[in-house]
Amino acid sequence: MGLEIALEDGQTPLSEEEKEGLLLRTITTHAELDEHEQLNIEKAVEWTIKTKFRKEQILTEKFIKILHKKMLGEVWSWAGEFRRSERNLGVKWILISVELKSLLDDTRFWIDNNTYPTKEIAIRFKHRLVNIHCFPNGNGRHSRMMADIIMENIFSENIFSWSQSKMNRPDQTRKNYINALKEADRGNIRDLLDFARN
Ligand SMILES: Nc1ncnc2c1ncn2[C@@H]1O[C@H](COP(=O)(O)OP(=O)(O)OP(=O)(O)O)[C@@H](O)[C@H]1O
Ligand SMILES: [Mg+2]
Repeated sequence: MGLEIALEDGQTPLSEEEKEGLLLRTITTHAELDEHEQLNIEKAVEWTIKTKFRKEQILTEKFIKILHKKMLGEVWSWAGEFRRSERNLGVKWILISVELKSLLDDTRFWIDNNTYPTKEIAIRFKHRLVNIHCFPNGNGRHSRMMADIIMENIFSENIFSWSQSKMNRPDQTRKNYINALKEADRGNIRDLLDFARN
């Protein structure tokens, strides 16, 4: 029952092994964990604001991992490392690197050929990235920040407005977000684009 609710709200259950990766022994409640993760992520945001990244640098497996480590590396030992077990969401763990390479190649192609408007490229990238589900946790937050980095550093445009909502509560905003992702799974990217607005 508890698990069903968690899945509906878009959370990936952590295996016992992954819980052992908690670096801060003082954390005992979910609220404390949220707070520490949020603090870590805020530092990562500051890092992305003061650093200029090039397109060739951003669209790499290396950068994908570095950003995740910057976001959660003070809290979790597995930050920045791809998962090595299966999830309800995401590709088979063994396929993460190949699927990611194909996404990065496609995205470079979209950019070079103006296949879609800039916002749509960032959102299509975000949708496919979170569907690969590279990491044990933090994939939603990481994919949203990647989309923002693409907007800012590759297209020199404003970031999306979702940064104003942390989307960690199972509220209406979160529901709209998950519904938009499901709609994107069916091939309609429009709702997710509207949701993301910049
Ligand atoms: N059907 C779905 N239900 C829930 N989440 C989904 C679904 N499809 C895709 N997702 C994505 O999976 C993410 C959750 O994965 P994960 O727990 O690894 O990320 P997170 O950063 O911890 O989550 P959050 O979005 O709460 O910040 C969601 O943010 C969403 O982007
Ligand atoms: Mg999560």
